[in-house]
Formats: sequence, structure tokens, C-alpha cells
Amino acid sequence: MQAWKDYQSQNKDRFLEELLDLLRIPSVSADSKYKGDVARCAEAVKEHLMKAGCDSAEVCPTAGHPIVYGEKIVDANLPTVLVYGHYDVQPADPLNLWTSGPFEPVIKDGKIFARGACDDKGQMFMHIKALEVMAKTNTLPCNVKIMIEGEEEVGSSNLGKFLEDNKQKLKADIVLVSDTSMISMEHPSIESGLRGLAYMEVEVTGPNRDLHSGVYGGAVANPINILCKMIASLHDENNHITIPGFYNNVTDLTEAERKALNNAPFDLKEYADELGVKETWGEKGYTTLERTGTRPTLDVNGIWGGYIGEGAKTVLPSKAFAKISMRLVPNQTSQEISDMFKAHFEKIAPDNVQVKVTAHHGGEPVVTPTNSHAYKAAEKAIQTTFGKDPIPTRGGGSIPIIALFEKTLGLKTVLLGFGLDNDNIHSPNEKYDVANYYKGIETIPYFHKFFAEKE
Ligand code: BES
Ligand code: MN
Ligand code: MN
Repeated sequence: MQAWKDYQSQNKDRFLEELLDLLRIPSVSADSKYKGDVARCAEAVKEHLMKAGCDSAEVCPTAGHPIVYGEKIVDANLPTVLVYGHYDVQPADPLNLWTSGPFEPVIKDGKIFARGACDDKGQMFMHIKALEVMAKTNTLPCNVKIMIEGEEEVGSSNLGKFLEDNKQKLKADIVLVSDTSMISMEHPSIESGLRGLAYMEVEVTGPNRDLHSGVYGGAVANPINILCKMIASLHDENNHITIPGFYNNVTDLTEAERKALNNAPFDLKEYADELGVKETWGEKGYTTLERTGTRPTLDVNGIWGGYIGEGAKTVLPSKAFAKISMRLVPNQTSQEISDMFKAHFEKIAPDNVQVKVTAHHGGEPVVTPTNSHAYKAAEKAIQTTFGKDPIPTRGGGSIPIIALFEKTLGLKTVLLGFGLDNDNIHSPNEKYDVANYYKGIETIPYFHKFFAEKE
């Protein structure tokens, strides 16, 4: 479409400047200190939706951070695409590892460095710009509803209710999301699945107070030592998870599916080198792509207790803590896995400590169809702008609301992500390639075009 190309090239610089402005707003949803900034970011997104050509846009308050919603209805008889994204970001720490300010975006070597550059401000903003391109050139081939939330990084706890309360308003034919990654610009790919999540916190208590580690050491169980032992026992020598029943509902891929998955271009040595590890690790019997895309996992996200200040303090601590998450695959549910974890963790605790296990937010796994009209529209869009067939892959991350789109609204999702695995999302020096940003803006209108065409 020449009109799209022209509009894009004429507005290229502004498209980038506007994204940089959005990245300057520290919309960290996890930290209440940023509540005002999160609200300010919601307003900015709403303004952008109006400027892009929406008929209406609003900031919808929730019990937590607001949801921004806008729509442009061209014809009630045309199909409707519901775009989902999030404007909230992860905390920036550890701050000292950033080479430039997390909320002072800079462009180096063709990459935008800032918290949220890829996850998900950069990616969701492509949709606002793509909408602008279509609206301003009077070429929007379908109706667009767009919902950008502010609590994805903290578990989307208020979005489920929003879906329940707004079923009519959110009526659509497909959900389109750019919040995942692709293999590379040379090997475009489309994720056809996301893992679920069960996130637990454990507290292990030993003696009723911190003790002198010399006076009492050797005579009283140290809760940190005990916690480490308990955690270590959660994987066996083959790196299988030892929680009874954990794999009960996990189904293996068919040989054909495994073959297809492992056909994706992937270099194990490059992967390890890029991460600075000599060797990868994982469940015996599965490849790295299978381990991240199709197998459940258990990881400690944080562990603390005792003295962690400067210098040395001799102490036998009273308490030890850990945050432990499990990534889930189809047919596992976060509720069932949380319950299993709790029961098992309590059972393996020796009598010399007490344990308390609590569950944080969870999310359900999803597999999106790769033979649908919508998937084919995404495939054709990629073929058009990349000149290559996209490879279907399975993503390792989680977007809990995707399962609810299906459950509450009866809608399937297409995960049209343009991030790269090494974009450092959730890490210091998060980045998004300017080329990926522009490519996304270029590709998205084609999705709408092909999706609007009859099956
Ligand atoms: N965009 C990510 C999820 C993602 C990243 C999926 C890369 C596939 C590839 C999302 O913002 C995220 O970080 N989700 C969290 C879960 C949430 C409940 C905090 C996650 O996966 O840890
Ligand atoms: Mn995200
Ligand atoms: Mn994220």
C-alpha cells in the first residue's frame, strides 16, 4: 500500500520522538511511589489514541491502575480487531547496572535503550501508530478496539473484572497482541503459545529470634540452611521437578510437533555464549527450545534472610524467605499447581522449622491456533513486509490475560510480537531496535487488511 508507505516515511521521526516521550514516564506498576506517573502515562496513551484517529478514548479507573480504552468503528458489519497491550513497566533496578537512565531513553547503534522500550511500550505503541497510519489515510479495513492496561507486570488483577463488566463493549472477532518476541529480523516468527505461572512465597522460621551463631551455632537448625536444602530437593538429578503430581496433566508433544519446533533456527553455542554461561541447563530429555516453550519449570526468583549488609555479622537467623515461581504448560492450572506446591513444601519441612507458604498472582497457559484465518492473516502480513514465511514458535513467558480473553470473551489471540529474546526485558539496559519498531508499524496494517478479507 503506497499510501501507508508514504505516510510512514513522512512521519517516521515523529513516530520515534513520541515513543521516546512515552518512555520518559516511569510507569512502574509494582511500586506505589510511581502511582502518579502510571496515571500520567494512562492519560498520555489516551491522548495518543485520540490523535491517532479513534472516535473515542477513555481512561477507565480500576481498583488498581487505570485501563485505557479507545475505538474506531468504521462499519458495524466489518470484522473487529481488539488490540491489547500494556503501558506499565517493570521496576528498573538494579539501577547501577544501566549505562544510561532507564527513563531517559537514548538511541545507540540503532537501538532504543529505556525501561519499557520493548516490554511493552515500544510494542503497544506500534499499534497506535499503525492505527494512525490507517485512519489518516482513510484505509482502515476493519473496526479497531484498543485496550492498553497498566497492571500487566503485576498480574493484571483488575483486568479480569473489566472484561466481565464490558463484554458488549469489547465484542470483537480476534485479539491482537504485540508483547512477545520473534527469533530475529532474518528469521521472523510468530509465537503460538505462552506458559502459565504460579508464583509462591515461602517463609521458614527457626528459633524465635536471631541468635549468636557461635553461642547457638551447631545446636539449632538454621532456617536459611534448611530452606536451601528444601529448595534443592525440588529438582532431581535429571532436573525433573519432584513435587508429587506436578506432571500429571502435562502432555508430550507429538513427534511431528517436536520436529517442527526444533526446526527453528537455533544455535546452542551462540545462545550460551550470549548469556555468558559455559553450558545450558535443564530437564533431561528435552532440547532448549522444548524446555522454554513446552515444559514446566520451577525457579527461585529471590531468596533472603539473615544479615546482608556491609561487612560480616555473625548471626543464626530466625527466618528465611524465598519467592518461587513455576511456569506452566497446557492442562496445568495455576490453582492446582499452587496447591500441590504448598502441600509438598509443608510436607518436606523438618520438625525443627515452621513454614508458611502463600500464593501470589498466577496465570493460565495458552496455545493459540496456527491454522486459523487470523493466524494466516498474521503469516501473510509477515510475508509481505519481511519477504519470508514466519516460523511458528512457543514462547516461554506469560501474559495471564490471554487465557481470560478466551474464557470471558470467547476470543482467540494472535501473538504478533516484534521483540527479540536479547532485548533485556525486565533486566538492566532494556532495548528495542528502531528497525523492529518501524517494521512493526509497517506490518500491523497488513494484518488488519488480510484479517478483514473474507476467509
Ligand atoms: N511481555 C511479557 C511476557 C513475554 C515476554 C511473553 C517475552 C513472551 C515472550 C510480559 O510483560 C511479562 O513479563 N509477563 C510476566 C508475567 C506477569 C504475571 C508478571 C512474566 O512472564 O514473567
Ligand atoms: Mn509485556
Ligand atoms: Mn514484562
